[in-house]
Amino acid sequence: MCGIVGYIGPREAYPIIIKGLKRLEYRGYDSAGVALYDGEKFISSKTKGKVSDLEKRAEEENTFKGSMGIGHTRWATHGVPNDVNSHPHFSNSGELVIIHNGIIENYEPLKQELINRGYTFKSDTDTEVLVNLIEDIQKNKGLKLGKAVQVALNQVVGAYAICVMDIKKPNEIVAARLGSPLAIGIGEGEFFVASDASPFIEYTNNAIYLEDEEMAIIRLHKPIKIRKIKSDSEVSPYIQELQLNLEQIEKGGYDHFMLKEIYEQPQVIRDTFRGRLLSDQGLIKMAGIEDNLNKFINAKRIIIAACGTSWHAGLVAEYMIEEFARIPVEVEYASEFRYRNPIINADDVVIAISQSGETADTLAAIKLAKEKGAFVFGVCNVVGSSISRETHAGAYTHAGPEIGVASTKAFTTQITVLALIALRLAKAKGTMSQSDYLRNLIELELIPEKVQEALLENDKILEIAKIYKDAPNCLFLGRGFNFPVALEGALKLKEISYIHAEGYPAAEMKHGPIALIDENMPVIVIAPQQNHYDKVVSNIQEIKARSGKIIALVSKGDEQVKNLADHIIEMPNSTEALTSIIATIPLQLLSYHVAVLRGTNVDQPRNLAKSVTVE
Ligand code: F6R
Repeated sequence: MCGIVGYIGPREAYPIIIKGLKRLEYRGYDSAGVALYDGEKFISSKTKGKVSDLEKRAEEENTFKGSMGIGHTRWATHGVPNDVNSHPHFSNSGELVIIHNGIIENYEPLKQELINRGYTFKSDTDTEVLVNLIEDIQKNKGLKLGKAVQVALNQVVGAYAICVMDIKKPNEIVAARLGSPLAIGIGEGEFFVASDASPFIEYTNNAIYLEDEEMAIIRLHKPIKIRKIKSDSEVSPYIQELQLNLEQIEKGGYDHFMLKEIYEQPQVIRDTFRGRLLSDQGLIKMAGIEDNLNKFINAKRIIIAACGTSWHAGLVAEYMIEEFARIPVEVEYASEFRYRNPIINADDVVIAISQSGETADTLAAIKLAKEKGAFVFGVCNVVGSSISRETHAGAYTHAGPEIGVASTKAFTTQITVLALIALRLAKAKGTMSQSDYLRNLIELELIPEKVQEALLENDKILEIAKIYKDAPNCLFLGRGFNFPVALEGALKLKEISYIHAEGYPAAEMKHGPIALIDENMPVIVIAPQQNHYDKVVSNIQEIKARSGKIIALVSKGDEQVKNLADHIIEMPNSTEALTSIIATIPLQLLSYHVAVLRGTNVDQPRNLAKSVTVE
């Protein structure tokens, strides 16, 4: 949540910061602001709204000239999104200015102490407390910026990624992180600081990712200094070469990132299993699993912890691992798990799933599981993210940057990785017949083509979206592996179109939700010709008997449901488990088109942020 950008070097900082903020807007878009040092003084503009609103205001208010600056796009935690609460925040003297991503949990007592010492506050934010705390420490202890920031951070409880500038140090930015990501781009005689590498990818391929509890003193024409905030020990900077390219973070001709990411799925699913799935040899090879195979095989239980869409992928994995490898699985909302004193044993394996690799609740669940002695395996998309570093081992999903706030390709690539894991464990445990195992391997390899085929229904889905775009409610039903897909379909629709939607196991409908069904209720039923087909057909009949509008996802060539449903969307068949990936595609497209027709902000739906680094 919140995106931060900083620049120091020979170029004009303002355009770099604005462009960088636009790339980070997926992290939060309630308000935005910028502060630059113009050679004599700080100039700043900030506003409620998006980075484009900031641009308009900034250009009316100021001429932004200067080669050192910081900028922020906010997802509000403390204080409503308004101009005053927007970042950057200045200290009382106006000499220090800060941007902050995270939460200072003990800001109230700190604020009270500062008030007692005569400080005043314009905003309701925890961030304004932090910048004044730094100022107070500088004044009372006569410390330079870096030291004062360090002393202040040792007094705060919470999470942060910050950048601070001091008018007395016109060539210096101090940055620090705990629990929120921070990357430093190293250019030729210039430095960039950002929540991820996207703001500086066209300027440099070299970056340092700060670790938790590290701070960096970034000075022009001097080597970067990195220090541990608690122990004060120096750390030698580890410079990584970035794998990201500009094309990956641009829309590439699509109207929205979400649509681009939906259409990228055939390719990224292929990337996910490339080199791991050797179907001609009947093998699956994943280093993270091979190196720890005994831990998985001997696990009494696998616990999956995740949030949101990643939690839905966890539910699909539960079905796969239990069916294929016969290991008991429990799927937990990370936010519940971390606080309910769960029973975790040393012979449990915990799988944490996260696209961003930064979700605070998932990270906390991992730490708890590690404390209790469990082996923790991560399934993450973002390389080098906090979760990928905090886990004992893991497998990346290789989906590439996902910019649309609503998760699409992250979900299907998570299922792909989890299918590989489930199949590998089944092979190792001998719990699956060789023919079923091989069939799943071959089918997994065909998934990119089948997803491509499912995408061909796009025009038809658009027509269906036109009919139902004004529905106030919507139900999604599925059985078995497609029950989590129904949950995911409902989540997608509600988060981008703001239509109330619920997902249910199809048979549960008659235990309550059926009361909602009338001629105004669209019901999306996932009904491939597989194990539960006849049962799902009966559920469709129950809906029809109550005049509900039925949109059915069916296997290609299905005739029976065609005669019952108001609309059908065809998709290719696969194994039962892997059809969950294919069935996801039409639901993503349906949500996308409904949202576009309703005129919502598809890529940046209200109140959401891509990376939830607060609990
Ligand atoms: C929904 C969505 C969220 C995330 C959730 C977890 O489209 O994107 O529900 O899935 O916030 O995020 P990660 O996977 O980054 O841990």
